[in-house]
Amino acid sequence: MQTQSDDVSVFPEPRAVERIQGYWQPSQKSESGEGARINVHAAGLPDQMSLLRDYLECEQSLLVMQMSDQDADIELSLDLPERPLTDHATAAGLCDEQYHLNITPQKIHLRATTSNGVAMGIQTLRQLFLSCEASCELPCVEIKDEPELAWRGLHLDVSRHFFEVEQIKRFIDLAALNKFNLFHWHLTDDQGWRLPIEGYPRLTEVAAWRAQTMIGHDRERETNPYDGVCHGGYYTHEQIREVVGYAAQRGIHVLPEVDIPGHVQALVTAYPEFGVLGTPPGVREYWGISEHVLNLEPVTMQFIEALIDTLIDLFPFRYVHLGGDEALPGQWANSPQVQKRMKQLGIAAVADVQNHFTQSAAGYLAKAGRCLIGWDEIIEHDCCTENTAVMNWRAGGRTTRRYHAEAAAAGLPVVLAPQTHTYFDMRESADDDRATEGWNADTCLPLQCVYDWQPLVHIQDEHHDCVLGGQAQLWTEYIPDFDHLMYMTYPRACALAQVLWTGPSREDWPTFCRRLLMQLSRLDRFNVDYRHCVL
Ligand code: ACM
Repeated sequence: MQTQSDDVSVFPEPRAVERIQGYWQPSQKSESGEGARINVHAAGLPDQMSLLRDYLECEQSLLVMQMSDQDADIELSLDLPERPLTDHATAAGLCDEQYHLNITPQKIHLRATTSNGVAMGIQTLRQLFLSCEASCELPCVEIKDEPELAWRGLHLDVSRHFFEVEQIKRFIDLAALNKFNLFHWHLTDDQGWRLPIEGYPRLTEVAAWRAQTMIGHDRERETNPYDGVCHGGYYTHEQIREVVGYAAQRGIHVLPEVDIPGHVQALVTAYPEFGVLGTPPGVREYWGISEHVLNLEPVTMQFIEALIDTLIDLFPFRYVHLGGDEALPGQWANSPQVQKRMKQLGIAAVADVQNHFTQSAAGYLAKAGRCLIGWDEIIEHDCCTENTAVMNWRAGGRTTRRYHAEAAAAGLPVVLAPQTHTYFDMRESADDDRATEGWNADTCLPLQCVYDWQPLVHIQDEHHDCVLGGQAQLWTEYIPDFDHLMYMTYPRACALAQVLWTGPSREDWPTFCRRLLMQLSRLDRFNVDYRHCVL
């Protein structure tokens, strides 16, 4: 049953909404509604209690009191029967996020099975509060909701352009408003390294900074000028823990990505002994794919283990993303030292070097009970290990292989991140002169294309359980600041949120467009600089 009325417009579209007669109001109201007192009971849910309090106090100017009994205006409880997820989703550490929200004139009751489910329900409640007038009068309603897909992510590249911790938190909070549950933090690349690792001080002294940045599009690299401005930064371990905690409170997992064995030009500038050439190439100041890759020496393998130890320590999510994309084999093929090490390690061909990195890292992660996820190049040459998942990005264009279908057929967990539908660094329309062009100037990704995406279309029914979910990518070569990031992210992220949360039974495009306006008016409340579109 989906009977959203205009005064109950929740986003993404819930499974079932039943409008009930009447309205709820705070029991101890002030004249204006401003400063009214609300009593909340949330036994065993201190983090979600404080999240709800922050929202109600900061966004609604309500005064929230915590009550120890159930005679409260709002009650949060963990008493819904558990709904099992697929084996792959459970093994990934994802959880049941269903919630029921019941609003009667007397009380608001939010129930779930897990604290993450409560966090999702809080976003629904937050949306209803954001949409009501100053009186804080909420329409009575019964909502029964659960997501279609267990992994609903937004990725952000902080290497090409660095974003401050407060901006990362804002990005995550807006993701939460749209019921995303995963933040993929792309922490390293050729143009900057953002993760300190004990014993490797040059990562933050050298690899975190580039002297200047090319102005203009990479296709005019030969003639483009440079800005002459040093760019960079990194996150301290304390800041990273703060972000992980902030996200967890909102039911959002943080997936860290350190991209190896390619995309390492910043790393091998700081530590040339990990590179094939042995000399520092300089932190890259322009875009495109770097030829620099890691070597196979023991010091490099030791570094990778220290790196994985650090990631395991900082990030509790089961998966660690170790990149794997676009590792060009040229340096490996041309290096006598790499050839020698390949023989010693029993690596038959240059094409298998990448598998060596994937398998070594996956084995090391497995000892700590963790799993590896990588871009789909990790299965290019049939590399499968038990604790490995595949993030599929190559789709459309010249790519004819369906890596996601291959991975699922091999029984591997898959996350769908296809360029064709989820690369939000591409501009929405060719005549949009504010939007950046993205890496491919010829391709656009319109809002409706995102909304029409059918994630499972090429995957056989019997392999659907391998699909954990999907996510959008925000590569930031051409996204220099937070406002621009918002412009590229929204409203497409709203469309994707509905694809992933509501699934194939979602409302039609005209209805989505009409209701999107409600969600955009909520973004207006937060001064989000989203792309205005004619709907
Ligand atoms: C990618 O876009 N290189 C994953």
